Amino acid sequence: MQLAEQLKRRSPMEIGIMATIFLGLLAFIYTLIPDSTQPLETNFCPQYKPLVPNYNLSYYNSNYFYTSEYSNKSLTQFQGAIKIPTVSYDDLPMDVTKDPRFKVFKTLHEYFEKTFPLTSQYVEFVNEYGLLYTIQGSNPSLKPVVLMSHQDVVPVAESSLDLWDYPPFEAHFDGEYIHGRGSSDTKNSLLAILEATETLLEQDYSPERTLILSFGFDEEISGYRGAGELGKTIHDRYGDDGIEVIIDEGSGVAPIAGARVVALTVAEKGYVDINVSLDTTGGHSSLPPDHTNIGIISEFVTLLEQNPFPPELNEGNPVLPYFQCLAEHAPKLNEQIRRTVLEIEKGSHKKDFIEYVSGIPLVKYLIRTSQAADVIQGGSKVNALPERTTVSVNHRINIGSSVADIVERFEKFATDLARKYDFGVVSFGETLIEPTAKGVFTIGAPRTLETAPLSPTSGEIWEKVAGTSLHVFNPETNPFIDNDTPVFVAPAVFPANTDTRHYWSNTRAIYRFNPVFQEDMIEYHTVNERLRWRSHLTSTAWFYDFILNTTL
Ligand SMILES: *[C@@H]1O[C@H](CO)[C@@H](O)[C@H](O)[C@H]1NC(C)=O
Ligand SMILES: *[C@@H]1O[C@H](CO)[C@@H](O)[C@H](O)[C@H]1NC(C)=O
Ligand SMILES: *[C@@H]1O[C@H](CO)[C@@H](O)[C@H](O)[C@H]1NC(C)=O
Ligand SMILES: [Zn+2]
Repeated sequence: MQLAEQLKRRSPMEIGIMATIFLGLLAFIYTLIPDSTQPLETNFCPQYKPLVPNYNLSYYNSNYFYTSEYSNKSLTQFQGAIKIPTVSYDDLPMDVTKDPRFKVFKTLHEYFEKTFPLTSQYVEFVNEYGLLYTIQGSNPSLKPVVLMSHQDVVPVAESSLDLWDYPPFEAHFDGEYIHGRGSSDTKNSLLAILEATETLLEQDYSPERTLILSFGFDEEISGYRGAGELGKTIHDRYGDDGIEVIIDEGSGVAPIAGARVVALTVAEKGYVDINVSLDTTGGHSSLPPDHTNIGIISEFVTLLEQNPFPPELNEGNPVLPYFQCLAEHAPKLNEQIRRTVLEIEKGSHKKDFIEYVSGIPLVKYLIRTSQAADVIQGGSKVNALPERTTVSVNHRINIGSSVADIVERFEKFATDLARKYDFGVVSFGETLIEPTAKGVFTIGAPRTLETAPLSPTSGEIWEKVAGTSLHVFNPETNPFIDNDTPVFVAPAVFPANTDTRHYWSNTRAIYRFNPVFQEDMIEYHTVNERLRWRSHLTSTAWFYDFILNTTL
């Protein structure tokens, strides 16, 4: 509303009247007071020059990856990797020697040794199946670059098999798409990194800065066995902040509002599961209390849902810089939004912006903590009162909030209900209200992960990641992009976590980015996962150029 009024206030008609009455210099006034469609002079989102590797390799540059000769060779290699079903199952044990289902990763390793012989000279195995390649640089005072991916894929449900257009581990290529489990998540980046490295080594590449490739094998089940051990090994060798930059899977390059946006994920929301149990004395259901503990835990859930987390645009959340980049560089962004974003410093515009973001289903949780009561357990017999009822609530924590904020909220609601019903409250082993004869609430968090440290969005490393992207996704050099599409780089936030959660102490500069055209990644994690082949070739070119831009 406020926006509309403001635009009305600034209508050319009104300006014209003002001009005639007050100054009589219509033309002059028009140049002073912009109308709503003129761009504002802001510079929230500076872009950089495309960074072209200035290293003349003996026989080819990145355009080599777009030739049909290379494409054919790469396709065969990719298909071989998809055909090895490196599935992570939820019930795999922590000890990798205790389950034969891990052995399929050995098959993948043998395949890599055969397919990428030069790169394989540098491999070590961490916790049996983690792959760690170290190509030592000539200058040990430079911090290494780490490229990450994961070898595992999510399972294919037996019942979904006949919904697949092509069998998920057949790696069918239809001339445009490669089909199969892992084609988008993320054997594409796994292979692209290996192909880029192998190509460099074929050209007697010898870096000044150490290059490390680090591939876990259980990302889809939280990464403790793979990335957890790899991150520690790297930390043992190089120490706190001993790594220059890490690239891992993440956002891609998306067509938005008439532009192509290279989204580099610099932030991740946190994660916490909270369990609340209510223990009461049981008894026979012929003599029940007015409220059983199922009823009271239900009241607890109702309290949570009646008080959802409000949207909060906190300092450092990349959602605002992302929209500022769109406002400055995307030609087809809605004018009202453009103005709201560029004039955000004004209080009312911040409110408008939050309202706007909250109205977009896919985006609204990027500025608020989510809560979902996902599991409830209580009672075992219909003629006996339940003695214990437990609810488990999952949260993805907003940038600028913390696990402690969420725990505090649970303690408040539990305390309110405990006072009402005369129960005690014990939270994380600490007694907040002494347990009574009637019962006690117990709060605990089986899984917590704070929001990730923010990666830099300016400075030398950012410019290298951004500059490499602007070169590789440049319409003039990338044969897959229409010439008239502008390309720009913007920071982004992820609602989930990648394997990089195990690497936070290794560097502040973590970018979660898959150098693919996002519209080419289809249906990952579900049936008919596939990837348009041009995306894979572009990814390979990106890793090749990035390695050159950062290690020489
Ligand atoms: C790169 O090296 C090749 C072979 O040594 C040479 O023919 C070519 O002109 C060089 N290109 C540039 C841009 O320097
Ligand atoms: C690549 O494969 C396609 C399809 O099999 C074939 O038509 C084309 O000639 C191949 N290109 C090269 C350079 O081998
Ligand atoms: C939390 O609840 C879930 C089920 O809702 C259960 O699997 C888990 O063991 C509980 N954890 C703790 C620490 O109570
Ligand atoms: Zn993944």
